[in-house]
Amino acid sequence: MPVITNIQDLKRIYERRVPRMFFDYAESGSWTEQTFRDNSSDFDLIRLRQRVAVDMAGRSTASQMIGQDVAMPVALAPVGLTGMQHADGEIKAARAAAAFGVPFTLSTMSINSIEDVAAATDTPFWFQLYTMKDMDYTARLIQRAKDAGCSALVITLDLQILGQRHKDLKNGLSAPPKLTPKTIANLMTKWRWGIEMLSATRREFGNIVGHVDGISDNSSLSAWTAEQFDPSLDWGKIEKLMEMWGGKVILKGILDADDAKMAAKLGADAIVVSNHGGRQLDGAMSSIQMLPAIMDAVGDQVEVHLDSGIRSGQDVLKALALGAKGTMIGRAFVYGLGAMGQAGVTRALEVIHKELDTTMALCGEKNVANLGRHNLLVPQDFGGRWQA
Ligand SMILES: Cc1cc2nc3c(=O)[nH]c(=O)nc-3n(C[C@H](O)[C@H](O)[C@H](O)COP(=O)(O)O)c2cc1C
Repeated sequence: MPVITNIQDLKRIYERRVPRMFFDYAESGSWTEQTFRDNSSDFDLIRLRQRVAVDMAGRSTASQMIGQDVAMPVALAPVGLTGMQHADGEIKAARAAAAFGVPFTLSTMSINSIEDVAAATDTPFWFQLYTMKDMDYTARLIQRAKDAGCSALVITLDLQILGQRHKDLKNGLSAPPKLTPKTIANLMTKWRWGIEMLSATRREFGNIVGHVDGISDNSSLSAWTAEQFDPSLDWGKIEKLMEMWGGKVILKGILDADDAKMAAKLGADAIVVSNHGGRQLDGAMSSIQMLPAIMDAVGDQVEVHLDSGIRSGQDVLKALALGAKGTMIGRAFVYGLGAMGQAGVTRALEVIHKELDTTMALCGEKNVANLGRHNLLVPQDFGGRWQA
């Protein structure tokens, strides 16, 4: 096993081990992938202020997200089909997150069900909700998350309809993969993945199959999801969902200051500044460039988290220094999971933690709570180059 020192090392192993269809599913953005690329490259525009002769002993990355203690302010983002990246992927990722002391978010479109993850872990996790036209089903999902003891509901707002991702269409993405000559040829080179998958608890969408009339296997599922995501979701419906849940709510997928104000007005416990990792509106701004305007608009009213493009602890530090209270990582943990299962997710978290801690120290800070604009050198036109 090669020595893994950064997230890109995990990505290289991940690419070798996981069937192409699922690698492509994770490693793509919508249409031209401009926003997907900008999400990461815009972090590189920000530079760090090096400080010296500061006592660095006794540092801590511990913090809180929505009032919950975290070992560092980094949650695992909801990622659909995680259980196709590695057998029982949601359970493995949830266990790694719990052991590390960071939140895990289970996607509606997971392979392991809410109940599977709850039975396999002791630590409450967050549940991410996609809102379906079938309100009875949506209400049942919310109830199942309550029954499982989930500690927050993450309502995703930026996927009422699906942004087109060319590779998924060309690959005929499905869970489990359909056996065509092309997929069979590829699967033969991914024998480790296949052997592990044979003993997986599930190989289809655990929150859906068996919980919706007429869906007993995967064959009718893609048609069902295309028909079922609720395109009419609006602030009124979001308010009703928040009431139905009655607990902590995180509104995810906000990229505009006006939307952030609406979310704060509704009383969300946190918002996630996110463009879904560049998978929805291609041509939208990167999350990190939108963060300053959103902090100016609502930073004193609601807790702000950020995702999209984070590949290192330095990226986390930049988001925190621009005002975010927390961050989420998607692909960074998926690379680890696909590369090495639970140990790979742990490794991804260790890598990010080490980078965050070392960077914080070299910036002259001992605690993530003290990070701020004073730690950064930001181009004058950052976030303001493109005007509405
Ligand atoms: C493969 C993949 C699947 C995703 N599935 C979901 C999902 O089911 N629900 C959701 O709210 N976000 C989903 N997202 C978006 C992530 O929660 C998160 O916003 C994004 O991954 C952050 O960008 P990053 O991957 O660059 O860290 C998905 C992202 C990826 C890469």
